[in-house]
Amino acid sequence: MAQDTTSKTHERAVEDLTTAEARAELEALALHLGRANDAYFRDDAPVMSDAEFDHLRNRNAAIEKRFPDLIRSDSPSRQIGAAPSDAFGKIRHTRRMLSLANAFTEDDVVDFIAGLRRFLGLAPDAPLALTAEPKIDGLSLSLRYENGQLRHAATRGDGETGEDVTANARMLDEIPQHLTDAPDLLEVRGEIYMSHSDFAALNARQAAAGGKSFANPRNAAAGSLRQLDPGITRARPLRFFAYAWGAVSAPLGQTQTEAIDRLTALGFPTNPLFRYCPTLDDLLTAYRDIEAQRASLGYDIDGVVYKLDDLSQQERLGLRSTTPRWAIAHKFPAELAWTRLDGIDIQVGRTGALSPVARLSPVTVGGVVVSNATLHNEDYIAGRDSRGAPIRDGRDIRIGDWVQVYRAGDVIPKIRDVDPARRPDWSTPFQMPAHCPECGSPALREPGDSVRRCTGGLTCPAQAVERLKHFVSRAAFDIDGLGAKQVESFWRDGWIVAPRDIFTLRDRFGPGQPRQLKNREGWGEKSAQNLFDAIDSKRRIPLARLIYALGIRHVGETSAGVLATQYGTWSAFRAAMSEAADPDSTAYAELIAIDGVGPVMVQSLITAFQVEAGTIDALAALLDIQAAEARASDSPVAGKTVVFTGTLERMTRAEAKARAEALGAKVAGSVSTKTDLLIAGPGAGSKAKKAADLGIEVIDEDQWLALIGAS
Ligand code: IVH
Repeated sequence: MAQDTTSKTHERAVEDLTTAEARAELEALALHLGRANDAYFRDDAPVMSDAEFDHLRNRNAAIEKRFPDLIRSDSPSRQIGAAPSDAFGKIRHTRRMLSLANAFTEDDVVDFIAGLRRFLGLAPDAPLALTAEPKIDGLSLSLRYENGQLRHAATRGDGETGEDVTANARMLDEIPQHLTDAPDLLEVRGEIYMSHSDFAALNARQAAAGGKSFANPRNAAAGSLRQLDPGITRARPLRFFAYAWGAVSAPLGQTQTEAIDRLTALGFPTNPLFRYCPTLDDLLTAYRDIEAQRASLGYDIDGVVYKLDDLSQQERLGLRSTTPRWAIAHKFPAELAWTRLDGIDIQVGRTGALSPVARLSPVTVGGVVVSNATLHNEDYIAGRDSRGAPIRDGRDIRIGDWVQVYRAGDVIPKIRDVDPARRPDWSTPFQMPAHCPECGSPALREPGDSVRRCTGGLTCPAQAVERLKHFVSRAAFDIDGLGAKQVESFWRDGWIVAPRDIFTLRDRFGPGQPRQLKNREGWGEKSAQNLFDAIDSKRRIPLARLIYALGIRHVGETSAGVLATQYGTWSAFRAAMSEAADPDSTAYAELIAIDGVGPVMVQSLITAFQVEAGTIDALAALLDIQAAEARASDSPVAGKTVVFTGTLERMTRAEAKARAEALGAKVAGSVSTKTDLLIAGPGAGSKAKKAADLGIEVIDEDQWLALIGAS
């Protein structure tokens, strides 16, 4: 069985994690994945392997699944790629460009298939065909054809908005410029990549011309496509494989196989290793066959993608926030390398957690130079898990040690092992500092928590700055020209201390003031004006974004969205957060009844609105906060809170929930005064009774399907 043993050896099973461990690990994952993500997608300069990155994302998702209350506002699972850079025009994708969930072991694949069957309500032995194809290690591109003409080409960007690279895409031989017999509207999606031989030749040419060489073919492809001068792109040997589609005016087929055949017939390069797989065995055989050919393909692949073949089933399964439920990438195992641990840096995060990061003698692992790795926490360094059980047979990690580093996708490295035979005699066990390296406040470890935290709160510069960075981050206020670097420098000078200062920056440092932004190094009249305008344009902010931006612990983007939809307006939300401080209040009962809001988040919200009421209100007063709108407002159930109970006979519970949510309804787990509709199947018990008592409308499954137009 192909197992990613490298990545899993020292990792504790997610089922065994305590809440404190899960929290610590999610925090470390957010930190490392965030950095790695930007390095990889935005800067085309990866800091770790793909396999490692994917493995970490997967682990993050698994932990979040078990501990939904701990989902962080900056959770890596909410991100696909990085925000588009400003150098290109932006194109908003009509249909989001998705990422893929990962499987690392055959067991993961078995679970994936079992999950599909459960969702679709199929028996374990019912036929269920999938397809298998190589996962190309390049960058995805969406090509929009209208009436057979190529109109737009866009990179994935953050999945919602990509970069307009139309002029560059027109330069590529493998991309058809005109189509015959195509649907009037057709968006074709696929991967831009560079072959090994073209990559080597390009690097040789670059070296001869004194230019920069690329770390790997993927970076070369990305760097070549994202050229401001299409003439340069033309000279770069980029290739393309089509494997998916976005908006289409007429279906490409009834199955994935038919659709891919159609794309081939239309003139798109499609992968010759694409295979129809009627059974699980066929899938795993395809995986092994493709893996066996990996070295001789002449281009990089990093796994095998499985997709449900039947497109109507794909439709039923639908999408999660960033990945389809009907596909998965089965990744190839990670790569390993030995190097020396030169030092251990301590980083302080937004919530005060001290994270040890290994500083390594740079080493190439699978084509990428790695110089940092996560060390998780002090127990991990000491060779213990949080319950005191040995990891690495109890061997600790010390500065000066030779350590084995691994990566598994293209992003965050980890340390798998340490070589006791090569330990220098001067080494001493590592001690986690008892004080925050940033502010000197005591750094304490609560019983049962594997993480040491700075107790300085917002008096700690690291925490304060990290909070501000979060505030301006992409999923929060996302202010053009005010990124992490600017926030840090304004913070150092006392220009921006709290979020509200951002919105008074023009008044304090604009025209007519003794100190002006335009006089600051690196700024001028125009850039200062642009920044003030960019800030003003974000005063009008959707409620969900504001809630997320506040950076309240345990309130991630998803939870912020749920809270915004639930309360609708800032004033309703704000009032409820104060009232909920009384555990006997209706506000408290309503808050805790929201699906997806647990006791940990409730406590965190209440505390935030107690401790930081002043800061929050001062900020809100400067903003124009847009009320939340229910999604898909043309649906009769949009904005309604529904509860399913009893046995559903025509769809599984998971499908019912996913469909209701796709139509803009909120699906709650229990009946409360907020419930609009109860869908009761046979065997409905106390919920039906409670609904009746509360005078809530109760309908059966058929009536529900009729209501949503699905009967
Ligand atoms: S399907 C709707 N198929 O992998 C699903 N993606 O890690 C969209 N990729 O963003 C993706 N080869 O850039 C699909 N055969 C393949 C792929 C593939 C490479 C990339 C794609 C995607 C990323 C997810």
